[in-house]
Amino acid sequence: MADKGGRMTAGADNSQKAHTSGEDRKSRTLRAADASGNNRAARAAGANDKSRTLRAEDVGNQNRMVTLADTDRQSEKTERELRKIVAPLLEWFGENARSMPWRSDPTPYHVWLSEIMLQQTRVEAVRGYYDRFLTALPDIPSLAAAPEEALLKLWQGLGYYNRVRNLQKAAITVCERYGGALPADYEKLKELPGFGEYTAGAVASIAFGIPAAAVDGNVLRVIARITGCEGDITLTRTKKQIAALVSKMIPADKPGEFNQALMELGATVCLPNGAPLCDVCPVAKHCVARREEKTHIIPVKSPKKARKIEEKTILLLLCGNRVAIQKRPKTGLLAGLWEFPSAEEFLDLAASAHAKQSEDLTHIRERISDMGAGVIDLFPLARAKHIFTHIEWHMGGILVRLRMPFGNFKWASADELRHAYSIPTALSVYTRAALERLEGDPT
Ligand code: ADE
Repeated sequence: MADKGGRMTAGADNSQKAHTSGEDRKSRTLRAADASGNNRAARAAGANDKSRTLRAEDVGNQNRMVTLADTDRQSEKTERELRKIVAPLLEWFGENARSMPWRSDPTPYHVWLSEIMLQQTRVEAVRGYYDRFLTALPDIPSLAAAPEEALLKLWQGLGYYNRVRNLQKAAITVCERYGGALPADYEKLKELPGFGEYTAGAVASIAFGIPAAAVDGNVLRVIARITGCEGDITLTRTKKQIAALVSKMIPADKPGEFNQALMELGATVCLPNGAPLCDVCPVAKHCVARREEKTHIIPVKSPKKARKIEEKTILLLLCGNRVAIQKRPKTGLLAGLWEFPSAEEFLDLAASAHAKQSEDLTHIRERISDMGAGVIDLFPLARAKHIFTHIEWHMGGILVRLRMPFGNFKWASADELRHAYSIPTALSVYTRAALERLEGDPT
């Protein structure tokens, strides 16, 4: 796990699975490299066989011999080095922790809700959502009983709506199994819908004082830099190694503060984009990446796959003071939210030349008229782009004024658009255009 300089390497964890046949041969030689072939890596079969020899491949493709006894010693050294950061980190957190509503009143429900919201966006953006959510649904039983539409509306703008659906599913389970109170037990928490290792660890440690690790992206970056780990932090293997290290560092008397201190350091000092603020870092003197001037390289992350681009034209179908909306399918992207109807092609009417524009508009007018709707007039709207994790929407828009409603749409008023139906943020340019039209110029 760690080389002679106390550095963590990818893949030499004692928990790694056997990579060769003949498990019990005494002086087995293993040749290992990580997925990218860049890191010193060694896979060991079994933790206790000290005499076994590992052959690992390093950056310069030079092989070097490392015994398991060496790697055990190196792991211990890394752990010893890491333990040195606990006290200065906690002291720094005591003086620099940002004030947050869920920190001043850390009931299990508050901690849980804040952690799920913080998986979506930054602390500053979460505050408003958090207050609004708790005013509407102040406890777990009220969350369990909330109508889906109200729940989605409270989440509107945060994205990943499955998270709030899971929040409710878990609340229902908590009411059924535990009388409406989250269990003070890491394993039981982890069984609840939407609770992965991170959320279970965060709630267990912050709300219940249980010494469980909570390793998010910030913590991965901080620990990778401090230990000089050049393993790819998007790989489960590296994440597990880092989680194992964090588990061994957690002070039994302050697990919640410790986990939050690591996250806070990652969010405010050991920054993800741009240079980290090493000058104000309370643990800079223990940091391998800093010592070796590698903070721009570490953490190592494999490049993400290119996003799929979907083009569409949003149709704002207006009839009197109402606009047509429809519910998205129950599964998939933005499941169950409301949207404006759209054409699955990109008609950039606003940007095209005048002659082309009227040609396209005539075409659209005919298509809509063919559906049985009387078109009064239609106008091009602004273009918009929205980036999801794996998909980009490139959108054009057309506002169509109709004589009569048609089709199986819900015809929503401005007030309903604002307060009753959840329209995804991805469509906010068009929601605003619809509201301006409905509220400013009803015809
Ligand atoms: N990010 C997610 N949860 C956090 C917490 N409790 N403190 C600081 N940053 C966080």
